[in-house]
Amino acid sequence: MTSRRTFIRVTGATLFSSLVPQLAIAAQRKLPRRRIPGTDESLPVVALGNSTAFREGDSDTARRLLETFFDHGGGYIDCSGDGAYLVASLARTLGKSEQAFLGSYFNGGRPGESLAAARRLLATRGRKTLDLMHTYPEDGVPNWDTFRKWKDDGLTRYIGLARHQARYYESMMQVMKTGTMDFLQVNLSPLETESEQRILPMARDKGVAVTINRPFINGRYFSIVKGRPLPAWAVEFDCTSWAQFSIKYILSHPAVNCVLTETANPEHVLDNLGGGMGRLPDEKTREKMRALVQSFS
Ligand SMILES: NC(=O)c1ccc[n+]([C@@H]2O[C@H](COP(=O)([O-])OP(=O)(O)OC[C@H]3O[C@@H](n4cnc5c(N)ncnc54)[C@H](OP(=O)(O)O)[C@@H]3O)[C@@H](O)[C@H]2O)c1
Repeated sequence: MTSRRTFIRVTGATLFSSLVPQLAIAAQRKLPRRRIPGTDESLPVVALGNSTAFREGDSDTARRLLETFFDHGGGYIDCSGDGAYLVASLARTLGKSEQAFLGSYFNGGRPGESLAAARRLLATRGRKTLDLMHTYPEDGVPNWDTFRKWKDDGLTRYIGLARHQARYYESMMQVMKTGTMDFLQVNLSPLETESEQRILPMARDKGVAVTINRPFINGRYFSIVKGRPLPAWAVEFDCTSWAQFSIKYILSHPAVNCVLTETANPEHVLDNLGGGMGRLPDEKTREKMRALVQSFS
């Protein structure tokens, strides 16, 4: 739980009143977790995306984001390049190495380079095995055997494919059909719903864990909902912000394990974690949510 001292350092005292609802939610309930299909392992439903703070090596901000995230039950962090070493190193410094689950990116077409990067990440993690090695379909589909070998060799526990455009779904489905894919990462939000029809049902059938990117369309969602009040019926599923509106839409899809939310702002980390708590909308309400947000754009 966040101490008062940490809270003030992280958010600034002036933000106190705006954060009370999120903190109250966080204090009352534990962030739910969902099981990775076919395993005894579970992941918290709200994850941290590849923040600019990680990518730009801003270790002070990265530390504050991770402290807030871990203190409220977070685990999965999506990170690439040098950002992955920063996250791994901070997780160790914060004593949260075990709580952290890193989804990191490698290139099957450049195995030598990837193996060196994986060994460096393992050393930074202080581990013998990585959590999740994944890649984009344009690299992963032709080089899938390399990823399978890395898993067979014990370099990683899970392998997967990640992309945010519907044009890649077909090739991702081809790999899913082989029954060798552990994780699928695709886009979904009330404004980008194609994955619901095209690829998530297969992931569910095949027992593939699903992580969701672009919950806020890389920030564009917030310009679309800006200045608009949340509908009164949002209280029926414990939703107190537009960020939580999208997160709860995503998490109420039965195929989804967790949603990757990107931010460089610790206050937004709390808001987003709040989206994982409390009730979720049913299918009829999801239809209303889609129609409402789509009517704004
Ligand atoms: N593998 C792939 O092909 C792929 C592609 C796209 C994304 N991804 C993954 O998915 C993650 C998320 O997707 P995304 O990059 O499209 O970003 P996103 O999470 O859809 O949107 C990020 C934007 O939303 C803002 N934001 C976040 N939480 C907020 C809140 N509670 N209130 C107001 N604004 C908020 C952020 O600004 P602030 O910093 O000011 O909060 C930022 O501008 C990425 O970080 C990455 O890990 C992977």
